[in-house]
Amino acid sequence: FSPASDGDGRKSRRRVLMFPLPFQGHITPMLQLADVLRSHGEFDVTIFQAAVNEPDRARHPAAAAGYRFVTVGAGVAAALAETFPNRGANSDFAGMILRMNELLRAPFEDILREVLAEDAAGDDAPAAACLVVDSNLRWMQEVAERLGVPTLSLRTGGAACLVAYMTIPELCDKGVLPLQSRDPLQLDMPLTELPPLRLRDVLFSATTTHDTMATCLERIIESSRRSSGVIVNTFDDLENSDLQKIANGLGVPAYAVGPLHKISAGMESSSLLAQDRSCLEWLDKQETESVLYVSFGSLASMDPEELLETAWGLANSKTPFLWVIRPNLVHGSLQQVSCLLPDGFEEATRGRGTVISWAPQQDVLRHRAVGGFWTHSGWNSTLESICDGVPMICRPQFADQMINARYVQEVWEVGFELEGKLERGMIERAVTKLLREEEGREMRQKAKDLKNKAAVCIEEGGSTRNTINMLVNLIMSF
Ligand code: UDX
Repeated sequence: FSPASDGDGRKSRRRVLMFPLPFQGHITPMLQLADVLRSHGEFDVTIFQAAVNEPDRARHPAAAAGYRFVTVGAGVAAALAETFPNRGANSDFAGMILRMNELLRAPFEDILREVLAEDAAGDDAPAAACLVVDSNLRWMQEVAERLGVPTLSLRTGGAACLVAYMTIPELCDKGVLPLQSRDPLQLDMPLTELPPLRLRDVLFSATTTHDTMATCLERIIESSRRSSGVIVNTFDDLENSDLQKIANGLGVPAYAVGPLHKISAGMESSSLLAQDRSCLEWLDKQETESVLYVSFGSLASMDPEELLETAWGLANSKTPFLWVIRPNLVHGSLQQVSCLLPDGFEEATRGRGTVISWAPQQDVLRHRAVGGFWTHSGWNSTLESICDGVPMICRPQFADQMINARYVQEVWEVGFELEGKLERGMIERAVTKLLREEEGREMRQKAKDLKNKAAVCIEEGGSTRNTINMLVNLIMSF
């Protein structure tokens, strides 16, 4: 690797290599981080994209300016596509991540060798400084290590989630895991090692075996531990104590660089689905803080019966709503949204509700008309909601979502979890509580307090800005 300064002692340009996991909730923060690093002025960026779920490069605003996109695994594209979750929330996500790593490892090694050889040949491109790799892609990190490339590990989830994953081996040693039964009493057992989490909150997914989950989480932790630093899309005032636990527990620095979406270019370019921006005009016509925004991210799903209950719950709540039904939200269904909704729903909600297939979510949450968010509690959605002061109804399904929901309810008190079988009456009560009752108002106030704290973090001299400067210096030092 070339030194960070040229013959005159001036800093020379460097190239940062980045490899996101090919899912919306992982691609977006990686590209946001790329944008933040680029805006510092010292870096070019090479993004490795697995040959599946690739965002449209032509739409990337900076495609011509110091960004290079490299596809990895074109020869195994069909096999990669087969690993994809086709059973919605019931998919074995941990197994899929392990398989994806196996498929990508060899093609990545070939491509990384090529990229490094170009650097060595001394063409005009700045030399690679390091690889920022999604913490789920430990196998790619191993390739980089073998070829002598320093690595940083990006956690696209929150700090609390990583701390929970770090504690899994201890829970195994104590015999708390593997799970003995799915008896609700056992599932609700509080974890004294991880308050306020319960056993059910760390179970990853119902269809993943214990061994697969343990291996997947072990590799995530290894990715963090073996890196020169863990980059977390969170901010100090939100997760200070968990950030400390990461740094102390793993022995590597934890860089809280979030909320990335507030300091980077918009994410339209990284969106895998086209955003329907017409909903913003509809929001313009609604009263302040009156609308419930309903969206379950890019992977969570529901069965037809749950869709029906959701539809009638929203209709009966008499609350204005903006509901995202993305093409594969209902298990195995690619049907038009209009075909999925029950008869009579449109008449019952005319003028009060809008259903679209994909939203410009960050703009929606920022809109003054939005008063609440019913979410699956993916980390990006949670952070976006918090940073715009919007309280949440949480309906987590897998991976880190249960942990996020628990923190929303018990630690930050900016929302509450909707537990049990989804049923229209419970939805109606939850919507009323969030948007029209005192409890909901208190949650909104707490969310606004956090929004203000996030705003301070990203100002000049704020914790996030300082951390990014430290990260830039670290990368320049490689
Ligand atoms: C996945 C996992 O579900 C999540 O638990 C993990 O933390 C990250 O990976 P995803 O399900 O996509 O992510 O949820 P989330 O993390 O919330 O990310 C969704 C992203 O898509 C957000 O940035 C959100 O703004 C965007 N989005 C969502 C839209 O732009 N439009 C929509 O209609 C819905």
